[in-house]
Amino acid sequence: MNTSPTPERSQFAADVLAGLSSTPKYLSSKYFYDDEGSRLFQEIMKLPEYYLTGCEHEIFAKQAEEIYRAFSNGDSGFDLIELGAGDGTKTAVLIDHFLKQTDDISYSPIDISQEALDALTAKFTTEFPSLAIHPLNGDYFRILESLRNSSGRKKVLLFLGSNIGNFSTDQAIEFFRSLRRVMDENDLLLIGFDLQKDPKVIVPAYDDSQGVTAQFNLNLLTRINRELGADFDVSKFSHYANYRPVEGSARSFLISRERQSVNIAALNRTFEFDQWEAMFMEISQKYSLRMIGEMAAESGFEIKDQFFDSQRFYCDSLWKPQGSLV
Ligand code: AVI
Repeated sequence: MNTSPTPERSQFAADVLAGLSSTPKYLSSKYFYDDEGSRLFQEIMKLPEYYLTGCEHEIFAKQAEEIYRAFSNGDSGFDLIELGAGDGTKTAVLIDHFLKQTDDISYSPIDISQEALDALTAKFTTEFPSLAIHPLNGDYFRILESLRNSSGRKKVLLFLGSNIGNFSTDQAIEFFRSLRRVMDENDLLLIGFDLQKDPKVIVPAYDDSQGVTAQFNLNLLTRINRELGADFDVSKFSHYANYRPVEGSARSFLISRERQSVNIAALNRTFEFDQWEAMFMEISQKYSLRMIGEMAAESGFEIKDQFFDSQRFYCDSLWKPQGSLV
């Protein structure tokens, strides 16, 4: 067990303490992505029930030329900057097409994981030998601030995969406003939004038949055991997911199957769980077009273009800065 304190570990401990001390209990889904969590998320993206990845892939594969025209808008080059690039599979579809039209583009993935950036850079260097790649490690806003007007070139920011759905609407607007503050007038922002649809399609995406999503959620308890010296018995918790059609939000929970106590050595605390007590784990917001329009307006953007898959399950929405800074 390695529970030695680092600033990240201290923040993790503080967030776990806040979540388990609250009523109802919660844990933050941003901590899902340790090595095993990232591997499980790759598995989720291949599941037949998890339609999101296929929808965005279809949009990029079928509408790469329209997207290219919207990005370039008659100018020559632009710099693509991807926030939280993951393995870059979908972005590769766009870049492959763009490079057939111009050699005047560059690609900068931003990620907090240096390991993820190294893997992505190695892959893209082999796949696209002529592409200028500038991986950037660290905080999105600090890096974007440092890139302001530095080249005078248009920046196109990518925030894909409906990652925005893991924020509450207030957090999402705050995030977009922070992006707006570090964008120049000519820059663009492409955001992947999962749309509201038949709840019977949404629920299985978060409660798959192979139980991978359940493992993905339970893995956070294993991470707390390892990093904070806790004694969660993972077999005593079950994954449960639901969808609230009025709000358009899928939510996942871990349910304590019995009355139990969990000790967390790094916090020097014991937490009591009642039988069937639910711990809130993740929100995956689904959007209406009205919600997307309202969020753009409230955060200082106007919608320039929208790209949909053939089932209209998903939308990549292209925003440009509007008005003065908020
Ligand atoms: C990363 N994020 C957009 C995923 C989602 O759909 O909310 C995370 C996820 N959780 C369960 N399955 C996938």
